[in-house]
Amino acid sequence: MPLSLIILAAGQGQRMHSDLPKVLQPLAGRPLLAYVLDAARALAPDAIHIVYGHGGDQVRAAFPQPDLIWALQAQQNGTGHAVAQAMPRIPDDHQVLILYGDVPLIEPATLRNLVALPGEEGLALLSVLLDDATGYGRVLRDNAGNIYRIVEEKDANRKEKSVKEANTGVLVANAGRLRQWLADLKNDNAQGEYYLTDVITMAVRAGIKVQAVPATAVAQVLGVNDRIQLAELETELRRRAAHDLLRAGVTLADPTRLDVRGTVTVGRDVRLDVNVVLEGTVHLGDRVVVGPGAVIRDAVIGADTVVQAYSVIDGARIDAHCIVGPYARLRPGSHLAEGAHVGNFVELKNTALGRGSKANHLTYLGDAQIGERVNVGAGTVTCNYDGQNKWPTAIEDGAFIGSGSMLVAPVTIGANATIGAGSTITKPVPRGGLTLERGRQQSYPAWTPANRVNAEERAATIAQSSLPGETPAAE
Ligand code: UD1
Ligand code: MG
Repeated sequence: MPLSLIILAAGQGQRMHSDLPKVLQPLAGRPLLAYVLDAARALAPDAIHIVYGHGGDQVRAAFPQPDLIWALQAQQNGTGHAVAQAMPRIPDDHQVLILYGDVPLIEPATLRNLVALPGEEGLALLSVLLDDATGYGRVLRDNAGNIYRIVEEKDANRKEKSVKEANTGVLVANAGRLRQWLADLKNDNAQGEYYLTDVITMAVRAGIKVQAVPATAVAQVLGVNDRIQLAELETELRRRAAHDLLRAGVTLADPTRLDVRGTVTVGRDVRLDVNVVLEGTVHLGDRVVVGPGAVIRDAVIGADTVVQAYSVIDGARIDAHCIVGPYARLRPGSHLAEGAHVGNFVELKNTALGRGSKANHLTYLGDAQIGERVNVGAGTVTCNYDGQNKWPTAIEDGAFIGSGSMLVAPVTIGANATIGAGSTITKPVPRGGLTLERGRQQSYPAWTPANRVNAEERAATIAQSSLPGETPAAE
């Protein structure tokens, strides 16, 4: 039977207290609706309809895919009214499966089972057994166990409220039937809304079999109405991602203290310490070790590389046997070739560091091509920005950059050159030899600490010690 999906996403989500429409709220870095769409597409339906309302333009813009059919529900008059907005474009002979845009963890297998249940004419819904079903519609069954009604919390009496089988909202029915029932809905209830759930009673009256299958895992049917529920789902996803990694052979110092917000692939015997955050698309090669608090986004890390504590890696490629951190920052376009070392408070942007090269302390390397076996001393800066343009720096194989060097780009340092510490390099440096650029060091033997209190002598000392024609270096 052809299958059409309707995803209800018009709700305002008032309790989120947010400018962002609820279905765009991020869960593990992706909008809620993206998860529902993943599950929807996994069923390979004939059509996916999305009923939208609040923040509609924003929602549509976030999902420009051409396979989606949008139906506007200008006023939120209830779930039944919402479904009715999508129905005109669904043929009578289709099966209609209804999902909520704010119930993100629903799984395709659950939906497939449900869709298989009702046959040509029947109706089936996904329920869930809850110790406390407060807030949910309750599934009412007669003595024989047959469903005859769903009653909403606000319309339920005490006895009905004690029922533990709750409606999840996921429902499948024949489109032709559903169309008739929706046309007959009334809003004479506690909320003055057109309830989709009232179609259950209509189906029963028409002698149609209504079946409910309880969800196997509660998490699958949890909706997001406020930020507490959103945080709970985040915790659930964290747990799932951690378990996936454990099953793939990763050692986690603590599975509850890892955040995966994207897709991670791993080699063998990878180890992750606590509070690691992995975002986007990340690959960790064999035996990679990641220290506590590291944040790794869109990166490929080669075998045996160690990323030490509190390093931030974004859009970087790191080959095998490298050491990064602690407190290193690799920004987009960084590449470390095999065996390279990047130490504490070193920042790389759009920079390649060749095989076995080292930048171990307090350094900025931007727009630089650095060869093999280069040693970049502490406090080296590639001065790549003149306020208008970014300029490149090239450092050839085997060069040694003394500590505190300013390499004013564009500039090239020849192979095996040595730059004396504290040099400001503005001209090309030839291969080999020593290049240095330094101010004259002066000492004033007559000066004593007493000079500090004698204003006149102090002024004289300062006048004498300043070098003519020098102005402070500009950034
Ligand atoms: C609904 C069900 C209830 C079920 C619960 C599960 C009805 C009448 N009640 O109640 O039985 O236990 O979900 O969470 O169906 N929406 C629209 N347009 C509207 C109203 C809602 O698009 O006019 C969307 C919302 O964005 C949301 C979904 O439909 O994704 C459910 O709406 P919500 O207001 O949360 O329904 P509940 O009152 O919780
Ligand atoms: Mg709800």
